[in-house]
Amino acid sequence: MDTDTLTIQVFAQNPKDFSGDLLVYLVEEDIAHLGDFGKPLNPVLQQIWSTGDFKGSKKQTFLFYPALLDKKQPVAAKRVLLVGLGKQDDDINIRREQLRLACGTIAKQAASIKAKDVLLVLAKEFLLDAEEIAQCSVEGVMLGSYRFDTYKQDKEGDDAPVRLERFALHHGGLSASAVQKGLERGRIIGQATLAARDMANQPGNGWTPNHFAEYAKKLAKKTSLKCKVLDKSALQKLGMGGILGVNQGSAQPPALVVMEHKTSKKNPTILLVGKGLTFDSGGISIKPGSGMEDMKYDMCGGAAVMGAMQAIAEIGLANVNVIGLVPATENLIGSASLKPGDVIRHYGGKSSEIINTDAEGRLILADALAYGIETFEPDAVIDLATLTGAVIIGLGHHHTGLLANNDQLCNRLLDAGSQVSEPLWRLPLGPEYRKQMDSRVADIKNAGSDRSAGCITAACYLQEFVGETPWAHMDIAGTAWDFTEKTYIPKGPSGTGVRTLVACLSQWEPLKPAEKK
Ligand code: BES
Ligand code: ZN
Ligand code: ZN
Repeated sequence: MDTDTLTIQVFAQNPKDFSGDLLVYLVEEDIAHLGDFGKPLNPVLQQIWSTGDFKGSKKQTFLFYPALLDKKQPVAAKRVLLVGLGKQDDDINIRREQLRLACGTIAKQAASIKAKDVLLVLAKEFLLDAEEIAQCSVEGVMLGSYRFDTYKQDKEGDDAPVRLERFALHHGGLSASAVQKGLERGRIIGQATLAARDMANQPGNGWTPNHFAEYAKKLAKKTSLKCKVLDKSALQKLGMGGILGVNQGSAQPPALVVMEHKTSKKNPTILLVGKGLTFDSGGISIKPGSGMEDMKYDMCGGAAVMGAMQAIAEIGLANVNVIGLVPATENLIGSASLKPGDVIRHYGGKSSEIINTDAEGRLILADALAYGIETFEPDAVIDLATLTGAVIIGLGHHHTGLLANNDQLCNRLLDAGSQVSEPLWRLPLGPEYRKQMDSRVADIKNAGSDRSAGCITAACYLQEFVGETPWAHMDIAGTAWDFTEKTYIPKGPSGTGVRTLVACLSQWEPLKPAEKK
């Protein structure tokens, strides 16, 4: 993984002395000046403003070469870029997103002119606190300059794309210590999101259950996280018939990766569970061939949980204990594979009739949820999974499906998703849907007899294993890749979930006891 090649730092000198490739100012619509640290360039802005060529509108950019302006060069940078932020919005979440989008544009422009060394002067007038301005800016640039080229030859040469090497922030008149703090937070969260994208971009033969285990072990060495990997024989001893059943057709052994971020016993404990299906062929209920290669992305829930754990540990969240579980396996076809009609037994003893071997995500999550709740007695549980095609039919690629047995937890996730612009949309649960999963031979079956409410019935299956614990399920099948395309979210895996989880847990306070119905 080469997300570490970008250095992000504060620039403490005057921006006019920056002699790198690209000096950037963000410009709000209707504010025709560049602030105290852009004074020498104000005549340029006034000129293009009066011609109507640039007015700070969303997505607008203006690139120029200061050396051409005057005999006496007003700034030392090779190039200057002005990026429009659009109009000041009343909604703070839209303002956060304006910064990320504009900074994604900086990344795109830097790539197209092969700039390696970029300085952004922050905009003091922007209505957001300094720490957040720095955080959103760093996130936008990091996520926007992401590329996955691990398997490409010819990375050198004239035509080869150039990677951003240094991104520096100048405070622009904001509190320097707040900018430093926000930069650091943005860097950690950006890197964790890119790590999740990297895991997802890896092909099925480059990211197996063992890779999840190894990544977590490395994380535990680098950070304060504790890590334990339950291997096949441990899963057998524990009776995890869901993970083992799905794994039956695979040559790669399964794993249940356990990561712990421990603070104080007095703090609430939150359990995160992510589907780590490193390739989903559907099993005996095989998927159609066309597009099947995308099923290497069926581990994006696991990647999001691992990325979130990385960020949580690096930030050092002090208000919560967090447990991250990633059940990981492939779902393949062989003479030993699970068959429709088979009955398995989950951790804790519940039996399940397999109607469709392609409904495998719920089988591995059920074991992990039941085990995690019994072992860690969490105050709340959040799972993330590319669980159903049905959620894409319902919500497309622009909202994650959210289902929960607790309104408070649900609202916190909705809020966190809005803050980071990873929107969620709640869908209902209820006994009438659960009934669609009644089996004649076992405690539950893994698929309904028709396709109706497929996203909800999948969540009903999971709900069966969480008891009364406050629980929310995020179906990220539509948003984990080919998510709404944005300047800082390219085609391919988005890393969705990492930023939502970190935002949600950073603000965590104990849940109020649910009112009895
Ligand atoms: N991994 C898939 C869900 C999926 C489909 C994610 C398309 C992203 C894009 C999951 O394991 C699956 O195949 N679910 C089935 C369940 C059905 C058989 C009850 C589905 O959604 O079709
Ligand atoms: Zn499947
Ligand atoms: Zn799947």
